[in-house]
Amino acid sequence: MQPSDVADDLSATLLSEQQIREKIAELARRVESDYAGERPLLVGVLKGAVMVMADLARELKMHVDLDFMAVSSYGLGTESSGVVRILKDLDADLSGRHVLIVEDIIDSGLTLAWLRANLESRGPASLEIFALLRKPDAAKVNVDVKYVGFDIPNEFVVGYGLDYAEQYRNLRGVGVLAPHIYS
Ligand code: PRP
Repeated sequence: MQPSDVADDLSATLLSEQQIREKIAELARRVESDYAGERPLLVGVLKGAVMVMADLARELKMHVDLDFMAVSSYGLGTESSGVVRILKDLDADLSGRHVLIVEDIIDSGLTLAWLRANLESRGPASLEIFALLRKPDAAKVNVDVKYVGFDIPNEFVVGYGLDYAEQYRNLRGVGVLAPHIYS
């Protein structure tokens, strides 16, 4: 789905498919260099990270393992609370592995802060974070993120994995949702 297919639902297109592709390629070169000689384990956080995971993994010119986790944040409405429940755990044993968490967005940072601590306790050789998007103005906790695609304004964004009521995840690109859709 292109932004033009849902033009009435978006107040702006924030990132085009091409901008995202170029940024992922740029970050992939850093990942290849940082993990040269290693076989990192990419951990995608469902569901939002599916697109980033698929594109990053295919862009990397090296062997990687892929695994997925599903978590749910307890809280009211769309706000993260920081209290996280594991809906689907990893299949892989992390001990001694070089783990790279792959996320679509860091909003408050609460999900990743919890996830980092949880995965750290499993004894990986290293643990880093790759996030396509970050909202600096929404941060409630500081999360150390090694690879960041774009810092974006604190607006309701959808597309490229990000949803509103489970819609727009399959949008090619990231757009700002028009207020008439959610208000
Ligand atoms: C989104 C996103 C992150 C989290 C970021 O997931 O994929 O995991 O929120 O928010 P935070 O920084 O405020 O914690 P969501 O819970 O919406 O689930 P989804 O990936 O299935 O859409």
